[in-house]
Amino acid sequence: MDNEEFRVLLKTLDSFNSYGEDSKRHLVDPRVDIFHGRARNDIALTAKHKELLQELGYKDHLQKVTQAIDSNQAFFDLVLAYSAQHFIPSEDDKNGDAVSPIKDEHNSIKAYLEETLGKYAQGYHAMNMDRDKVRSILKQVAREWTAEGAYERQIINKPIFEWLEKLYPDKDARKDIRIVCPGCGLGRLPFDLCTELGFQAQGNEFSFHMLLVSNFIINIMQQPNCLAVHPFVNSFSNVKSRDIQIRPVIVPDLAASQLLSESDLFSMTSGSFEHVYPLDSYKANCVVTCFFIDTANNIFRYLETIADMLSAGEHWINIGPLLWHFEDDANNIELSVDELKLVIPKFGFEIVHWESIEGVPYSSDLERMGGYRYDVEFWVAKKV
Ligand SMILES: C[S@@+](CC[C@H](N)C(=O)[O-])C[C@H]1O[C@@H](n2cnc3c(N)ncnc32)[C@H](O)[C@@H]1O
Repeated sequence: MDNEEFRVLLKTLDSFNSYGEDSKRHLVDPRVDIFHGRARNDIALTAKHKELLQELGYKDHLQKVTQAIDSNQAFFDLVLAYSAQHFIPSEDDKNGDAVSPIKDEHNSIKAYLEETLGKYAQGYHAMNMDRDKVRSILKQVAREWTAEGAYERQIINKPIFEWLEKLYPDKDARKDIRIVCPGCGLGRLPFDLCTELGFQAQGNEFSFHMLLVSNFIINIMQQPNCLAVHPFVNSFSNVKSRDIQIRPVIVPDLAASQLLSESDLFSMTSGSFEHVYPLDSYKANCVVTCFFIDTANNIFRYLETIADMLSAGEHWINIGPLLWHFEDDANNIELSVDELKLVIPKFGFEIVHWESIEGVPYSSDLERMGGYRYDVEFWVAKKV
């Protein structure tokens, strides 16, 4: 691990560790202050306003919000306790001056963090962006590893699975077909490709936030339905009733480690996909990208990498919007759907299917008014 990777890892660990305190500071404390008349004049409550809030049970609700945040922190504490040591370099694989290795893997990660963060400058501590990622990963957990997320997953899986079943009708032969899923988030799609369809599947992810949580859910949690998280607690907006905000989801909907214990079909790689692939030790037969290609700074490099991973006759399946993640970054290339249709063949693909699918939810609280829904593009391209 080099110094920069270590810096990102520490920021990630710090953001998990400080989620609870940070959320209460931003979400609960200011609202309690308003209630007790410690707010700015322009939002000061009159006696009548206070009485109304009392009647509505506002203070009780804030108490429940606090409990929900504590329960999310308990989840992240487990992620830190059981998953973090797999990522913190040991003395043997320390590589770089600034990297602080873990000396005793049995030591508490919290103690390691406290000691290590104390030694490093601000750039190694969680920033707002890291904290945003922790809040959104709760929703990603709901999308990928809960029964509530099944509806969202099913909408995406349906066209992908139908095409894969069409391309590889012989179920027994699928164990020899390797599918790579770049930017797989918490790994549910490659997991489902193995356990439901019988393929070999490899997820790839570069975010430590995702890698730590997916490692915890897939490799460490042994029982289904054993932890509650409250993925929607961090927003007060668009709720028809207060309970919508604080309701829990139960994680995981199935015990991945048990289901995978008998098989070697599933694997994960960590690192930026265009640097990791093509991988000599894992020759892909198919690439499936889901809500991924718009994470590119330079989409042409993604297309080149996918093309390099496949041989003639093999397929790339994509589903997702074109919400270019780095649009605000001046060094970014964003293409339209029309342009992609023109460009993909220039990288050695024949487009064999293309359709637009409307209103696809993404880590959305379906019980709220509104919610994130995307019009996505689904295509299948064959390497020629
Ligand atoms: C919008 S999320 C989609 C996650 C998942 N595929 C899903 O549909 O729920 C995009 C994911 O791609 C990952 N990602 C972005 N750029 C990447 C890269 N260059 N290499 C690997 N993963 C990347 C992000 O960390 C994030 O988890």
